[in-house]
Amino acid sequence: MRIEESFREIFGQEPEVVTRAPGRVNLIGEHTDYNQGFVLPAAIDRSVWYAGRRRADRKVRAYSIDFQDKIEFDLDQVQKDEQHPWSNYLRGISKFMQADSVKLPGVDLVIGGDVPREAGLSSSAAVEVGAAVFWEKILNRQPDPVSLVKLAQKAENEFVGVPSGIMDQFVSALGRKDHALFLDCRDLTYFHVPLSSDVKIVVCNSGVKRALAKSEYEVRVSQCQQAVERLRARGLAINSLRELEPAELEAAREALPGVLFKRARHVVTENHRVQCAVDALKQGNVERFGRLMTQSHESLRDDYEVSSRELDTLVELALKQWGVYGARMTGAGFGGCTVSLVSPRAAENFVRAIQQGYQKALGLQTEVYVCQASNGALVAT
Ligand code: GLA
Repeated sequence: MRIEESFREIFGQEPEVVTRAPGRVNLIGEHTDYNQGFVLPAAIDRSVWYAGRRRADRKVRAYSIDFQDKIEFDLDQVQKDEQHPWSNYLRGISKFMQADSVKLPGVDLVIGGDVPREAGLSSSAAVEVGAAVFWEKILNRQPDPVSLVKLAQKAENEFVGVPSGIMDQFVSALGRKDHALFLDCRDLTYFHVPLSSDVKIVVCNSGVKRALAKSEYEVRVSQCQQAVERLRARGLAINSLRELEPAELEAAREALPGVLFKRARHVVTENHRVQCAVDALKQGNVERFGRLMTQSHESLRDDYEVSSRELDTLVELALKQWGVYGARMTGAGFGGCTVSLVSPRAAENFVRAIQQGYQKALGLQTEVYVCQASNGALVAT
């Protein structure tokens, strides 16, 4: 059912505003964003939708199609709701927009969409960016894209309480159809790189919810900060791991305990791989791009230790198939999805082989999505 129809069904009126914000797949550059590094994600053709209309008072009434659940809050008193966690992204965005001295009107709204949840495809960033764009449309304003993205990240960090980087929100807002987005997370400069029509981006969902993701994610963020502190204590004038070349880190190896060294090595080599991957893409060298993706996976598995048996199995299966250039886990890890770069001619067989192979190896089902890189929420379609 279309989102407009759901709105009509729930609230008995026509929506005034409809918005869409996509999920994302990260092609390469994992766990680099909160280290001020480089990332190369793409927005995908799966989105979160909002439909809504103004009310005369200061109440927000929101219905979630996924959760079949309705909540209500007052814009003068926006608080976290542990009973209905799905609503906290909207609450956080509403609160921080008002903190920026914007007065929001009450609204009735419906949220729905087809970004798989807890799969590492950033459904939460899509919900946040979608909410921010929804409010901007209700207010009839043209938002400044970077401010909107920062607000969405702030809602995730400070209201929902996950210390994520800025990649997901950025690409959900500013991705472009048939392009990947290169982002420098230190100064937020970015550009789009065309994706070759000779490849398909295939996402395989391990089906494993990311149970450990939040706590282990926080541990990784903190380990990277500790590595920076120790390197600074050794006289390296750096503010983030982004400022180190792989050779400089090797030279300072004895300054770090084994685990911190491995974490830092992942980040530093991954930043280097992202830059090489952009060059490869610009040159149309999909083989090289694929090899870099696979190296990224190995580094996430061995040095950063955020992969899982299921993700490793999906990557191994992918790499055995004909017409596959590379494969890796995507997103925070500990479950969620892998992404593979596959020749269009091989895509159909690939999907079948992975589904059968995963079932045979682990007795599990994988949902497979052949993705199209899409426009972000702030990019006119
Ligand atoms: C999650 C976070 C992102 C990023 C990735 C790992 O998706 O939201 O900011 O850190 O994990 O690359």
